Amino acid sequence: MLPLNINHVRVPPIKCQGIKTKLINFITTNISWNGEGRWVEPFLGSGVVLFNVQPERALVADSNPHIIKFYQDIQNGVITPNVVREFLFEQGQQLEQTGVDANSYYYEVRRRFNENPNSLDFLFLSRACFNGVMRFNKKGGFNVPFCKKPERFRQAYITKIANQVGWVSEIMYGKDWIFLHQDWRETLNNVVESDFMYLDPPYIGRFADYFNQWTEEDANDLATITQELNVGYALSMWASSEFRTNDYLEQWHGEVVTQGHFYHMGATENLRNQINEALVISPNNVFNGDVNDIAVRGNITEDEEDVQLELI
Ligand SMILES: C[S@@+](CC[C@H](N)C(=O)[O-])C[C@H]1O[C@@H](n2cnc3c(N)ncnc32)[C@H](O)[C@@H]1O
Repeated sequence: MLPLNINHVRVPPIKCQGIKTKLINFITTNISWNGEGRWVEPFLGSGVVLFNVQPERALVADSNPHIIKFYQDIQNGVITPNVVREFLFEQGQQLEQTGVDANSYYYEVRRRFNENPNSLDFLFLSRACFNGVMRFNKKGGFNVPFCKKPERFRQAYITKIANQVGWVSEIMYGKDWIFLHQDWRETLNNVVESDFMYLDPPYIGRFADYFNQWTEEDANDLATITQELNVGYALSMWASSEFRTNDYLEQWHGEVVTQGHFYHMGATENLRNQINEALVISPNNVFNGDVNDIAVRGNITEDEEDVQLELI
């Protein structure tokens, strides 16, 4: 199953800060896993890692209920490419007729989503909000402002999103994948020895602001609990920036591999932050073989250019 070199990295329909699109091959070529147990992802986020690894069996979870409901709705056939196409076309037209500030239709969708959440509005917000971030206030309300592009949902953009939903739905089909809305502790309570855990928690010591707070206690507990389990794991974490190194990694005893990566912290180029990204891997799951022996999936196609151009 892993290591695997994925030539055509695919992007999921929803976005979030810390999305690993550009780090997929860094992750999949450094891990050795036979694929026999379940792929366990307690911090699913956009789902980009799961959807590119494509294991036969998976237990994936997130404390953000909207992410989990969205993928359950795709799995159950409630959200299909056609449903998405029609919805975004109709809502996109309404968006186009309003302004860019407080009177934008975007804020009406945000208001209605916060009163009565549903997966289609969630998708709309994820694809029309500023910089594709997923941020919530203390009451759990989505609070990201509008990207200020009333013509956001042009035909090509709608087609692209509908295709992403179609692709996710296709790769889920026939697979034993379980999506759960729960805290990471609960997920780790349910792993067994044959499972493999990919851990991508909010980055400690860096601004994150996900659905709920991520504290130092959470981060420390994650290190302790993970390493007490007899289960293979890989942890994504920042290793160092221009200014400092991440002491948190000292709590982890696996092997560390690193790669440079740009994070976009704001709208302009000079707000990009280069950091070194670490993958800490349990000793028995490090791929130490020859790079030429890594299996390859897919050819580079035109879509690959889309991935290169995706900002986050
Ligand atoms: C860095 S993101 C994961 C990004 C993901 N790997 C991707 O590539 O899109 C961290 C995720 O952890 C989730 N999260 C935060 N606190 C959590 C908790 N206590 N239990 C489970 N998930 C949590 C957030 O909602 C967020 O989706």
